[in-house]
Order: sequence, then structure tokens, then C-alpha cells
Amino acid sequence: MYRTHTCGEIRASHAGQTVTLAGWVNRRRDHGGVAFFDLRDRSGVVQITINPDLPKEILDAVANVRFEWVLQIEGFVQKRPAGNENPNMATGEIEIIAKHITILNPAKTLPFMVSSDADLPDENMRLKYRYLDLRRERLTNNMVLRHKVVKFMRDYLDKQGFIEIETPIMFKATPEGARDYLVPSRLFPGQFYALPQSPQQLKQLLMVSGMDKYFQIARCFRDEDLRGDRQPEFTQLDLEMSFVHRDDVLDLVEGLFTEMIPAVAPHKKLYSSPWPKFSYKEVLERFGSDKPDLRFGMELVDVTDILAKSEFKVFQSALEAGGAIKCIVAPKSAEMSRKELDALTEVAKSFGAKGMPYLAVTAEGAKGSAAKFFKEEELTALKEKSGAGVGDLIVFASDARAIVNKTLGGLRLWFRDKLDLADKTMMAFAWVVDFPFFAFNEETQAWESEHHPFTMPKMADLPKFDSNPAEVYSEAYDMVCNGYETASGSIRIHRRDIQMKMFQMLGLSEEDIQAKFGHMLEAFEYGAPPHGGMAPGIDRLVMLLADEPNIREVIAFPKNQNGRDVMADAPSGVEPKQLKELKIKFE
Ligand code: AMO
Repeated sequence: MYRTHTCGEIRASHAGQTVTLAGWVNRRRDHGGVAFFDLRDRSGVVQITINPDLPKEILDAVANVRFEWVLQIEGFVQKRPAGNENPNMATGEIEIIAKHITILNPAKTLPFMVSSDADLPDENMRLKYRYLDLRRERLTNNMVLRHKVVKFMRDYLDKQGFIEIETPIMFKATPEGARDYLVPSRLFPGQFYALPQSPQQLKQLLMVSGMDKYFQIARCFRDEDLRGDRQPEFTQLDLEMSFVHRDDVLDLVEGLFTEMIPAVAPHKKLYSSPWPKFSYKEVLERFGSDKPDLRFGMELVDVTDILAKSEFKVFQSALEAGGAIKCIVAPKSAEMSRKELDALTEVAKSFGAKGMPYLAVTAEGAKGSAAKFFKEEELTALKEKSGAGVGDLIVFASDARAIVNKTLGGLRLWFRDKLDLADKTMMAFAWVVDFPFFAFNEETQAWESEHHPFTMPKMADLPKFDSNPAEVYSEAYDMVCNGYETASGSIRIHRRDIQMKMFQMLGLSEEDIQAKFGHMLEAFEYGAPPHGGMAPGIDRLVMLLADEPNIREVIAFPKNQNGRDVMADAPSGVEPKQLKELKIKFE
């Protein structure tokens, strides 16, 4: 037997027992002839004491032991002498007095320390040696948390009558708005499988099969630009249900997360239960984002009416062009320096604003770039409506409404980070519903589906499909948390005629529709039940639960920011023979 216990489980209650442990040397200290090793395994760290009265061959062997060597230790559990306890260690009340030590494997000096997060090396270095980086307590804990999250999901859904079904990875393009990863076929040269961007079509087909309540911990593949919350392959809790309305799906998912958070991350608080539900229009107006962070206030205030007769040119021209004037109030920021305000103006411009008028509310009155243009009654009304008081900074945006919202939404988050306004222990879940059905792509000058092309429009809006696509709303919904989109879903189209119409609206030719989606359209003719579902992103959720700044920290072997696996060096070239078999030639 390699071990009787794990390192992290030994407590004062084990005192007096002889135990055998195995693990890595986390630290070593030598002190007056006595050596202290911290031995680590996945469960934690325990102190091993090596007294000089051990046989000489053991002492000689351990003399060379360095960080990260793998040892097996048999020893006696002893309570530490009073005053020597370490309250920062779960095993800090005891130490193991070594009786026998076996070196299972020595280790070269690691490229970086893993026993502490101080001096974290550059991320590519961490990813190159990911198998070592994962030894860090922080990353180990993230893996354990991720396991708990997935296990909770499986157990919860099983109890609710869901069954887990695997769907193929080698499939046909399942569009979610990104490029596909393609897999060349040897048996059918010149033809390709596509890796699914999500199991969307397959889960809908499972509903046609009568599977009723399906879920899958599904790997999805998307060739798109990477960001902190995006990886080219990531994992969703993909689920689908038959004979449901929107709120049946939302209730199920809300119930799942409301029970899960205290079970897997007891230090986290839920913002509210039940979760708030906003329309897409409302979140844009109030928070300037379709994924609002509700952990703090600073909502957008519409002051168009108050400033309708403003003498300020910037406001006037925005209003003449049919735009709006809105503001946010940054608490205790009236003293911001000119330099900071200039930097902030650049942030505002990055969201499309032409400038960033502001007013600092001081005891001596309003100051700032546009102060002289404000009439006394305007200032009074402004302060009353926005709630701004002495010491606050009022930041304005005046432009087309969409730009105003986007700018102030972005600045709101900038202030969140600068002023540390968000409670880090909070998980502020909310629903966003009533999305527009179509989005107009300025680049291609064509209508695209805002969610994906299988989403059901609101039936009442069907007549506006051709005449006024911008006013068609959909049965789509997003789950948001702390400023991230953590899930999205919809009630689906289950009628062939509507699905066909949707594809036609998106500009697909008859041939394209048949070639790409013929199997879906045919399936809808054989008794497709009304159905809907959604897909929470597991990486993003675990990232939020673990307080990590990006999803790479909660994925065992992620790609780096350029989409490369720097550990195995992928993507990489292949043997000419393989290309020949696939009949692939490079120009
Ligand atoms: P959607 O494309 O919105 O919907 O994806 C659902 C959720 O998956 C997560 N996610 C990602 N996580 C990490 N890296 C990525 N590149 C990435 N892309 C998406 C997000 C997102 O909210 N088939 C639909 C779901 C449905 O309608 O049921 C879909 O995939 O958390």
C-alpha cells in the first residue's frame, strides 16, 4: 500500500496513529539538525519532521531531497507543542514524526516555484509546463471546484428526470456565429467534417426522437478571436426540453444554480432570489449593456428632457440628430485629475463617443468642461434626477441612443474597477429576455439572426418578418452574472415553414438550405414537439466562482492567447504521408 491517508486529511484526532503518506516535497527547512518537509498531495500539505535519531542510511538519503521530489513517508502523528501550531494550515495542529522514508522519484529543479503564487512566471511559461503549474494549490482547487460544479449539475438534472446523451464531435457545421474547425476525411477525399460550435442541431433532433429532457457536458469548438472569457474549445452544460415555455426553462436553470452556489462555493452570496428579469431594452437603457453587472449601482440616467434646451453645442447637435443625453454619477470622483479625466475621455471615445462632457459637483458649485453652459435650474434638476451630491462626478454622453448607452455602460465598468465598487463575494445572476430577433450587419448590409437561426420569433411579430424585421422580437434569453453572459438559450422553431422562412430571411439559397440544413427541415416534418433549452458556459461560471480573471485558469490544458497549445506545440505540421492519404496539397 503506497499510503494509508492523504496529506491534507490528517488532524489532531489522528494523533498517536502511525500513517503512511505519499506526495511531493512542497518546502524543506533545516533547523538545528532537524529537517522539516512539507509534504503535498492534491488534498493539501502536512509537516513531516525528520529527527536526527533516524538510521544513518535514511538521513543520508534525505540529505539530498529537494523541492518536488516524490516521497513515501511512514510516520507517527503527533500534536505540535503548544505555541507551534500553524493556524494557516488545515493540518497545522499536528506534525508527522518520520520513521521511514522512501524516495519514489527525484525531480530536477522546476522551471518555477509551485508552492507559492508569489513571482508567478509569464503565462506562456506556465502553459508550457502546465502539468507543473496545475500542482499550485490555486489551480488544484480550481480543478476540484470544476469537478464539483459538473457533478452537481449531473446529479441535479438526473433528479429532475434529465438524461445525459453524447452527441458526435465529428459532424456538420452547426453555426453559432464563429468559423468552423474542419476535419478532413480520408475515406471521402475533399470532404470535411465540422466540429460542432455547439450541439444545437443534435439536441433539437433528440427532441424529435422523444428524449424530452436531455443534457450533456458538451465540448464546443469555435474558431474565433480569443479573449479572457473565450477559448477555441470550451464546455457547456447543454440542455434541451420538450413541451416547455420560456419560463419552464428559466425556472429549471435558476433552480439549479440557486441550489448549486451554496453547495459548491459557500463563500458566495446570491444577489437575489428569485433572480431579476429584464427585457433587452431595459438593460441597455439602465446599464448600457446586455450583460449588466448588478453588483453595484451607477445606473444610466436619461436627462434628455432636462437638457432639451441646453445651450451646450454638443448636446444641441446630438438632440437635433434625434439622439439622447444620459449620464452616470461616479461617487466621490469630483477630485479626479485632469490627466485621469483625459484618459477617461479616451475610454469614452473607444466606445464610439465623440467626447466626454463632465461636471464635478463641489461645495463651491459645479465645475468641469461644460459647467459654464449649464443653467441653474438645469443643474438643480440634474442633481435631483441623478442623485448626484457634493464630491460626485457626473459624466455625460450625448449621441445616438445606442452609442450613449454603450459609452456609459463601458464607463460604468471602468469606474467599477477603479473604485472597487463590486462586492467580490456576490454572484449577481439575472435573466435578460425579449431580444430582437434580427441584427443588421452593417458590413454585409444583411440581416443576421441575433441568437442562432433555430430560435423562435415571438408569434405575434411574425407578420412584421418582411415589413419591419427590426421590430421582430424573439423567444431567446440570456443568463448573465457579474457582467458576463453566462448562458443563452431560446424556445426553438419546430415548424418547417417558419424555419424555412428564417433561412430565406438570412439570404440562404434553396440549395444552401437543403445542403446545410435539409436534415433539420425534414425532421420537422415527422412530428417535432415544441421545445426549448439553453446552454450555460461551464468555464465562465467556474471562473466567476473561483474569482479568476480569465477562463484559462479553470481549464486544465487551455490554449494561450494566440490559440496555441504551447505545451505540446499544437497546431503543428503533419507528415507528408498523412496529407497524401487525405489528398491534401498546399499551394
Ligand atoms: P451561445 O453561443 O450563446 O449559445 O453559448 C452559450 C454559452 O457558452 C459560453 N461560451 C463560451 N465560453 C467560452 N469560450 C467561448 N468561446 C464561448 N462561447 C460561448 C457562454 C455562452 O453564454 N446553442 C446555443 C445555446 C442554446 O441556444 O441552447 C449556444 O451555444 O457562457
